[in-house]
Amino acid sequence: MTSILKLQQLTKILPQGERPILFANVSAQIDEPQSIALLGASGQGKSTLLRMMAMLDVPDEGELHLHGTPASAWVPKEWRMQACYVAQQPVMLPGTVEDNLKAASRLHKHSFDQELARELMGELGLSGMDWGKRAGDLSGGEKQRVALIRSLLLRAPLYLLDETTSSLDAHSKRAVQRLLTAWQAKESCTMIWVTHDLDEARAVSQRIWFMADRVLCEDAETNEFFEQPATEKARRFLQAAGRH
Ligand SMILES: Nc1ncnc2c1ncn2[C@@H]1O[C@H](COP(=O)(O)OP(=O)(O)OP(=O)(O)O)[C@@H](O)[C@H]1O
Ligand SMILES: [Mg+2]
Repeated sequence: MTSILKLQQLTKILPQGERPILFANVSAQIDEPQSIALLGASGQGKSTLLRMMAMLDVPDEGELHLHGTPASAWVPKEWRMQACYVAQQPVMLPGTVEDNLKAASRLHKHSFDQELARELMGELGLSGMDWGKRAGDLSGGEKQRVALIRSLLLRAPLYLLDETTSSLDAHSKRAVQRLLTAWQAKESCTMIWVTHDLDEARAVSQRIWFMADRVLCEDAETNEFFEQPATEKARRFLQAAGRH
């Protein structure tokens, strides 16, 4: 069977600093569509690894395969249409909210699914928003949700979500978690969520990838990770968060 995504011995070396190796020999494989939460303390390289999976950063060693084909054989733009990175600080494209929502259909040269876009906007509490508004004028939380919907409309098989809910109020956060969980099941896509919110990780994921001390030190089923972490590092991480 061809894997959706395969990470082989990925290493990232930083250009300067006392700790030149950010992470080393990160290997993992995703064979079935699922949700994975990528956890670890600040500065472990979670965003860097996520950006590598979106071909927005390059490993110093190792290789990635998407749908069985190595990164070196992909056109980066095509890879990014399959593995869609959703940044924590969203970048709005120039123009209106509507221009942003239509970005994926322009890219794919497909017709715009206005009904779906309206439905998704409604589910994230944005049904009253004027689509003619300049996207740059939206609030941070509005930009984050519009950017997320813009990404979903791409209908990518793999979503790389970098702290997607971190700047949202509790109500919007739950709406995003609900929407993404339902979307993952309906579209049979794969989602990798970077989050510092352990309740979120537990609620949305089937697996946990846990980074600590420059390695991917656990790749476990979510319940197993929280109930019986295999490593001392994970036990300490959960203890520090009052979970173990
Ligand atoms: N290209 C680069 N040049 C220099 N430093 C870099 C580069 N890429 C990443 N880093 C450094 O690597 C470290 C890890 O960054 P990264 O953003 O991946 O961590 P993180 O686990 O996502 O942290 P957080 O949870 O705080 O978001 C940081 O200290 C960052 O400055
Ligand atoms: Mg980060």
